[in-house]
Order: sequence, then structure tokens, then C-alpha cells
Amino acid sequence: NNPPWPAYRGYHEYSFAHATMGVRLPTILGKAIDDVVKTLNDEYEEERVVDLTECISRMEDLMDDLQGNSKLRPIIDDGEGDIPLWNKEIARYFRGKDFMNAPWLFAEAYKYRRMHECFSLSKYWKSYDVFFRQKCETFSRSGDAVFELSTRFAEPFRQADGATVAEQLEAKRLMFHELTQICLWGNSTDLSLLINMTEEDIKKLQSTGGDHLAATEQNILGNDLAKIWEYVSSDRFGTKEKGGRLDFVLDNAGFELYCDCVYADWLIQSGLCSQIRFHGKRFAWFVSDVTRQDFDWLLNSMVYGHRYLRAVFPNASDSDLASLKKLGLRWKEYVKKGQWVYEQHSFWITGYTYWQLRDEAPDLFIHLADSDLVVFKGDLNHRKLTMDCHVPSETPFPVAIGPLATEPGTPPIVSLRTVKSDVVCGIPAGKADQLDKDEPGWKISGKYAVVLLSEGRKG
Ligand code: F6P
Ligand code: MG
Repeated sequence: NNPPWPAYRGYHEYSFAHATMGVRLPTILGKAIDDVVKTLNDEYEEERVVDLTECISRMEDLMDDLQGNSKLRPIIDDGEGDIPLWNKEIARYFRGKDFMNAPWLFAEAYKYRRMHECFSLSKYWKSYDVFFRQKCETFSRSGDAVFELSTRFAEPFRQADGATVAEQLEAKRLMFHELTQICLWGNSTDLSLLINMTEEDIKKLQSTGGDHLAATEQNILGNDLAKIWEYVSSDRFGTKEKGGRLDFVLDNAGFELYCDCVYADWLIQSGLCSQIRFHGKRFAWFVSDVTRQDFDWLLNSMVYGHRYLRAVFPNASDSDLASLKKLGLRWKEYVKKGQWVYEQHSFWITGYTYWQLRDEAPDLFIHLADSDLVVFKGDLNHRKLTMDCHVPSETPFPVAIGPLATEPGTPPIVSLRTVKSDVVCGIPAGKADQLDKDEPGWKISGKYAVVLLSEGRKG
């Protein structure tokens, strides 16, 4: 079950793998250490202090391993559910490999697992998230776009009075088109790349107006939006009695998660979906990925966080804050009623790609096979779908994702991804060569995107 194309590796100097393994990861780890030192300064109980200094020492060891390009060692058994998966993979494929010559995707994921190990071995700090502060701060720097969406979507969705069936369907199609794009572009602001962004830069990336979206649609290089709508609005999606089940394999917390929820809210209200299942990570992952804590934080701060929100969004009006609360209350209702479900399978925090999903996590595969549509958000999920290798860019998406398109039982899959790393597929022949010439760096800027569908093979 391997693709015929080679994987990107840290020593490939022409690829983003090289800069990531050599520079970005040590920078991210350094910032993480600063975060823990901050926490340490606020701590006074001796046992907890000592415990935390040991976490910092383990992080410093990891920094030495990373910068010294050490060989990858097994993960120390901290009793967590993903350990057998990790150590099997290390033993089977990556024994003797180091950070630079192991496949980039694996080496990068391994670094985040080692970072988690620094805390999981402690007594008091097992679930400490070194990126939590950063994630909350970026949400608070997204004020304009947050309120633009909340004031627009707080009131329940209603079809225009007296509209014909055809007009109602057309209105839904337009909304679907717009909200899918909002959900897509919400992925531009992940923290691992945008650490140095100003508030102005973030604003530009997060504009959600109609004209802006029409302009940015030209930057969707492979665009199956029309096909996705055709499927989602057909009888094949869900049943006659109820809407479909849609699964989001989430990417980033903060603004992106907020956009995902705005989209999920409309999918329920429009009747297209009767259930949304969100899949998040069990621990801090690729800096900004969603954990349960982030999911809860978002909903709770929308509903209860007004004092806090007033401080972080000083320009927000009372009605802005009220709209956010209204949205948050409705979302909490969905959770209560089981229309929204949050899950966190161990497979999502391993180094395996989705080419191995059925073999390494058969329970998860069977679970996803029951979905009517699985939407994978973001760059890392796209790398995992395509096994992060040098696939020719005109390769159709269903070919590039291998078994997850062809194995019996696979559900329809969509990738909503702004392009932030080397692997690209599903775009017209010649486009990548032209961009290589005209806009070097286009693969890591987040300016371009793909919206790609694989129809799956439901039995
Ligand atoms: O380090 C590179 C990377 O793995 C890329 O996938 C991307 O640049 C970033 O980290 C994560 O992006 P996303 O949050 O969209 O998956
Ligand atoms: Mg991410």
C-alpha cells in the first residue's frame, strides 16, 4: 500500500521539509519552552515546581536531539492509547532513521509526540498544552471577522417568504458555496506559519465578504465545489427522512474552528445534515490543532466569557457580544442534543498517513465508513491523505489518496486545504510549472487552495 512517488524528507533542500526540520521546528520548540517557563514563574507549590522543571529538562533534551539530528527512539510508555501505534511504526519502518532522513511527515509528527512525552511522564502536568496561550491570543486578534460572522449568522437561518422550491434550492446552493469557502479560508491562519503576523495581515486573510470570496475563488486551483454541492443536495446524501451525517477531521483551533462551527451550524439549520461529528486531537499537535480543551474554550468563552471578551475585543459593541453569545448558546444545544459530537481517536495523533487508516485503525475506518461525507481540513490532513510525496500535480485527487478512495466501504471525502507545503495534486496540467516560474514560494504562502472530492466506494 505505498504510492509510486517518493516522500519528502528533511534533507531535501528544495522542499519546505528542509526549512521546517532545520529551522521552524526548533523555533516552535523554543517558544514552547518559553511558555512553560512563564507557567513555572506563576507556580509556588514545591512538588509541582520540581515536576515542571523536569518537563523543561525533557524539552531541552528534545531540542538537543532535534538540533543534533539524533536517531528516532521509541516513545517512552506513558500508558497512553497511542503508544503501541507509535512504537510499532517506529520499529517497522523507521528504526535507525534520524530527524532529517525519515520521511518529513513522520519526523514532524514524531517531534510533537516527543513534546507531549515531556509532560505525559510528569505527575501534575500530564495534559499541559504549551500552545494554549498562543491559540487563545490568536482568536482574540481575529475580532473583525469573528463579529462579521456572528452578527450575520446569530439569527436562525430562514428561507425567504413565498419563495418557490427552485428559488429555495438556489438560495441554499449560494449559501453552501459561500460558507464552504469561509470554512476553507479559515485555514489560512494556522499558528505554525503565521507566528509573526500583524493584526492587519490577519484581517486581510480573514475577510469574509462576498466580493472578497469571489476574488479568492480564483485562487482555488482545483475546485470541486459544484460537484460537492451536487452530491450534498442529492438523495444519495442522508435519507429522505433526515439529513446526512458529515464528519470534520478538524485542523486548527481559534478562528478556523469558529468558521468550521459557523458552517456546521448552517448545515444543520438548512436541513442538509442531521449530525456533525468533529474529530480533534488528544494533545497539542502541530501548534494550533484543535484539542477538546480548545473546543470547550471556544463555546464557553462565547457564552460566558463576556468580561474576558470585552477586554480582548475592546472595539466590540454590546450587540456584537450578544450575537456571539447567541451563536454559542445554539451550538451548545447541538452538543447537548447529540447533533454535534466531538471525538478524539488516537490514530489522529500518530505519524501514520491515511493510506494506512484501514489497516492500523480498523475501528475508526468502519466508523467513518458510516458517514455521508468526511471533510478533511487543512494542510497537514492533505499531506496525510496523499502520503506527502512527490505526486505529479495533475494527478486526480482520488488517485493521489490511494486506498482511501478505492477500498470498499470508503465514504466520500473532501479536502478543504489552503496550500502551505510541497505536495499538490488535482490541479490542471501546467499550472504548477507556471506558478513555480511566476510566484516562487506559492506552495507555502497559504494564498492558494484546493477543494477536492473523492466519491468513495460505499457498499
Ligand atoms: O510544518 C509544515 C506543516 O506541517 C504544514 O502542513 C503546514 O505548514 C503547517 O505545518 C500546518 O498547517 P495546517 O494547520 O493547515 O495543517
Ligand atoms: Mg494545523
